[in-house]
Amino acid sequence: MKPQQTLRRTGDFLAERFPVDKLNFASMVGKKEVPVHRLSWGYYLGGLALFFFMVQVVTGLMLLFYYQPTVSDAHASVEYITEHVPAGALVRNIHAWASSLMIASVLGHLLSAFAMKAFARPRELTWVSGALLLGITFAFGFTGYLLPWHQIAVNATKIGLQTIEEIGAYLPGQMSLWPAAIKEIIQGEATVGQATLSRFFALHVIILPLGIVAVLGAHLLSVQLHGMSQGVDDKPRRMEKFFPAFLLKDLSVWGVAFMILFVLGLCLPFESLFAYPLFEPYNPKGSTPDGIKPEWYFFWIYYPLELLPFWVILAGQGLLGVVLLGTPWIFRNTNRRTLQVLAVAAGLYLLVMTVFGETIYHLFKG
Ligand code: HEM
Repeated sequence: MKPQQTLRRTGDFLAERFPVDKLNFASMVGKKEVPVHRLSWGYYLGGLALFFFMVQVVTGLMLLFYYQPTVSDAHASVEYITEHVPAGALVRNIHAWASSLMIASVLGHLLSAFAMKAFARPRELTWVSGALLLGITFAFGFTGYLLPWHQIAVNATKIGLQTIEEIGAYLPGQMSLWPAAIKEIIQGEATVGQATLSRFFALHVIILPLGIVAVLGAHLLSVQLHGMSQGVDDKPRRMEKFFPAFLLKDLSVWGVAFMILFVLGLCLPFESLFAYPLFEPYNPKGSTPDGIKPEWYFFWIYYPLELLPFWVILAGQGLLGVVLLGTPWIFRNTNRRTLQVLAVAAGLYLLVMTVFGETIYHLFKG
């Protein structure tokens, strides 16, 4: 194909996915309607992910006033926030709980968008930008986990980075050196230390926020330009006005979410769910304490890693990445019933590994 033809086809492709000439905010909001059907509860999950992200921005900025990104002061500054700053423990707990609730709502949003085939033409790039948002959201979790610089944070990060290096053993020739080089770039020095903490801090409070704002902007623009997908095969029962009906319901869901978050932040410190010694300041000379595990939202990969050969996980990860980014084209001709079954199966897998991962592990490993 001649370069001009490729350019024109790419232009046509993008023009159809981002018809910005249609961009007229007032009529878009005024005219926008949302289909009402048995899966329309799914339309609240993207909004919920957005809400929790906004909570993270506000509570994160508050924590930044006191947090010290140095190995000597990081843990002490977090303890100072928790014990001496008025409402410090509440803000910190809300930030910890909202990170888990954001990831849970993003995963729910992904599965419901998949089940509704909301990736079908012209929403392919809504999905692809969504898949990038998923990656950024998990990166927020991974980088934020290290910042308090306690035993579980540093040791779990070490294990995570070690897993990257192990990939090298399964790659041919020069490529086998790349994973170790990537680990070195992320870690910044021979072991997890000040350079790592500075890089994770920069990622968590500058680079990832800039990235998520850019990708989320494209994501929400695409949603606004195309409106909500039909969602189910049969004709939706009826259409509902986005403004004010759907928006008011969306805001009510946010209100309930905030009340739950506030009660959790007030009554159930996130760390109370784990054994305390894990939250002692990291001791580079000490031995690795028992019970080091990543955050719950990595259990779906952590336990299979503990049970299956590494190459199986690696192949599985590669396949998952291709399927996630290629979903709009791989499942283009798949009917919604099949997509709903696949979404439920994926949801059940995530749930079982998150809740029963430890039990399954001991079943196999004794
Ligand atoms: C930080 C993460 C994310 C935020 C804040 C977010 C936000 C939103 C919002 C507010 C909507 C419109 C309301 C709705 O349909 O729920 C939406 C729609 C959509 N999102 Fe996301 N999203 C995120 C991640 C994802 C992910 C991980 C995927 C899939 C890989 C995805 C795919 C979609 C699709 C396909 C739509 C169109 C839905 C439709 O038209 O019915 N999003 N997103």
